[in-house]
Amino acid sequence: MFLLLLILFSATSCSTYAANDTNYDNFVNCLSENGISKIQASQIVYTPNNSKFTSVLNTYVKNLRFNTSTTPKPAIIVTPLVESHVPAIVLCTKKLGLLLKIRSGGHDYEGLSYVAEDGLKFIILDLFNLRTIDVDIEDETAWVQSGAMLGELYYRIWEKSRVHGFPGGVCPTVGVGGHFSGGGYGNMLRRHGLTVDHIVDARFVDVQGRILDRKSMGEDLFWAIRGGGGASFGVVLAYKINLVRVPEVTTIFRVERFPEDNSTDVLYSWQQIADKIDHDLFMRVLLQPVTGKVKGVKVVRLTFIGMFLGDGNRLMSVMDSEFPELKLKKSDVREMSWIDSVLYWANFANNTAPEALLSRFSSVNFLKRKSDYVQTPISKDGLERIFKKMVELGKPGFAWNPYGGRMSEISSTETPFPHRAGNIFKMQYSVNWNEEGSAAETDYIDQGRKLFSYMTPFVSKNPRSAYLNYRDIDIGTTDYGKNSYDEGKVFGVKYFNNNFDRLVQIKTKVDPGNFFRNEQSIPTLPFLEK
Ligand SMILES: Cc1cc2nc3c(=O)[nH]c(=O)nc-3n(C[C@H](O)[C@H](O)[C@H](O)COP(=O)(O)OP(=O)(O)OC[C@H]3O[C@@H](n4cnc5c(N)ncnc54)[C@H](O)[C@@H]3O)c2cc1C
Ligand SMILES: *[C@@H]1O[C@H](CO)[C@@H](O)[C@H](O)[C@H]1NC(C)=O
Ligand SMILES: *[C@@H]1O[C@H](CO)[C@@H](O)[C@H](O)[C@H]1NC(C)=O
Ligand SMILES: *[C@@H]1O[C@H](CO)[C@@H](O)[C@H](O)[C@H]1NC(C)=O
Ligand SMILES: *[C@@H]1O[C@H](CO)[C@@H](O)[C@H](O)[C@H]1NC(C)=O
Ligand SMILES: *[C@@H]1O[C@H](CO)[C@@H](O)[C@H](O)[C@H]1NC(C)=O
Repeated sequence: MFLLLLILFSATSCSTYAANDTNYDNFVNCLSENGISKIQASQIVYTPNNSKFTSVLNTYVKNLRFNTSTTPKPAIIVTPLVESHVPAIVLCTKKLGLLLKIRSGGHDYEGLSYVAEDGLKFIILDLFNLRTIDVDIEDETAWVQSGAMLGELYYRIWEKSRVHGFPGGVCPTVGVGGHFSGGGYGNMLRRHGLTVDHIVDARFVDVQGRILDRKSMGEDLFWAIRGGGGASFGVVLAYKINLVRVPEVTTIFRVERFPEDNSTDVLYSWQQIADKIDHDLFMRVLLQPVTGKVKGVKVVRLTFIGMFLGDGNRLMSVMDSEFPELKLKKSDVREMSWIDSVLYWANFANNTAPEALLSRFSSVNFLKRKSDYVQTPISKDGLERIFKKMVELGKPGFAWNPYGGRMSEISSTETPFPHRAGNIFKMQYSVNWNEEGSAAETDYIDQGRKLFSYMTPFVSKNPRSAYLNYRDIDIGTTDYGKNSYDEGKVFGVKYFNNNFDRLVQIKTKVDPGNFFRNEQSIPTLPFLEK
């Protein structure tokens, strides 16, 4: 047997493995018993003995907190080349008793797609090779594989039509698999809602290693994988989506306001209109503590970033009548095609060609994110106190993202994503840093937690809601061994509100043995198992 393997490896120049790598041997043997040829299997299985292991692992680590020598590493990484490889991978992972982590774009803020608790033996199923996108403009639909990035999707749509787009996230390297299954949104959400509001079919591998589509998986499971997070249920191979129409001309703006511009008043007014204004307008506000214009004085800078699905004149008339407090000028706004707006929102330089959206590279730093929902406007006094706290802490910033429009028209039970009518805006807490080492990390994460604690009176209560795709393990985790309902409920109700129990029922039905699990997966109900 060893000899045979050696010969095979030399023949395929995969001979960096010594003969004794049991994890490797067992996994490759199992794959070959499940329909994948040994040669093919040897090309998709990486263990630490493979010289490419580290680079395969690190390519889709999008948070430097999980790129350290002490970060727990997988025993195996497997990179399927075709969808039919995935059932065998699921069955073999189960057979060898490993924990499975599923990675598409690797943007999980807590690294849950590629890190596991210390001491656990785990495997990463990395889907980056499965990234085919088939756009059908006649039909106004597309099939998108999970390993595709949002930028690739936008580019492939643009290649075929200048008046179609898709309402997904603004960062082009985010992966479809995690983003769609977690309810992803972008700057068209007030006109078009979320990614999951446009999913019409899926291909999916369940715990029994079956490839299912919408019809064969049934409406319950199909509901769950549109916002409930894929990783609790199985492996999403691809989604079929309805495209949306975009105008030939869109308009963007980005303006900063400081205390000398009466920024508290401006932000107070923003809260009154942000979720009610014309549905074609999405106006995000970034809040960041910075050194102000008076030397040495720290202030909070507001940056209003607008996306308007229409031309500049119409935008100006909307702003003049609904939000004059911002004092937006015609010279602040810029008309451009939808695809150029995608590049603009992704911070590419002027006149960057759309091909830039195909690049899988992104600059990566250390980061921590948290989220909150605001359901009643914060008073001017409250805003002042928040600014003061931010200046005092020094590091954490916010992105406030308005809801309303289409978001309020869709029922909170339509998909697992429950944060619809009644939410004025969602806050993302963001802390980014570049200093290595645990001292910086502890300090910055602690600052984020302090700000979160300070915000308690201003945000949603019972539950204090959170957005699944802004993954935050501070709000609760489950123990891999126990994964009890009570543990899961702590974070589950924050992410899914009243949809949590339906997710638990579906999870229990489709994966009663809880094979698909992670630190924040949906628990099973033990008494239904029997
Ligand atoms: C720079 C940056 C910008 C972002 N911008 C936005 C934004 O504009 N809007 C927004 O809504 N969110 C945004 N996010 C958050 C993003 O939507 C989530 O992190 C999302 O889950 C990432 O998907 P991924 O495939 O890249 O991540 P991964 O880390 O690969 O996966 C995330 C989770 O989904 C699971 N998963 C991944 N693929 C599959 C699959 N095929 N089947 C089953 N489970 C799977 C993973 O196991 C993990 O639990 C941003 C994140 C970053 C880092
Ligand atoms: C090879 O595997 C055998 C059996 O698992 C073990 O006893 C031996 O120490 C291993 N050798 C090396 C070099 O790892
Ligand atoms: C594989 O790598 C591990 C750890 O890196 C090492 O202990 C082991 O001996 C290696 N096995 C072989 C067969 O080279
Ligand atoms: C991640 O860590 C590796 C060392 O394991 C290092 O070579 C690489 O530069 C790091 N990545 C980034 C983006 O810093
Ligand atoms: C700020 O508000 C004061 C008082 O209402 C007003 O006099 C002043 O013109 C405002 N400044 C700006 C830049 O809007
Ligand atoms: C980009 O183009 C706009 C409009 O032509 C211009 O106002 C702006 O200064 C340019 N930005 C850069 C960085 O060149």
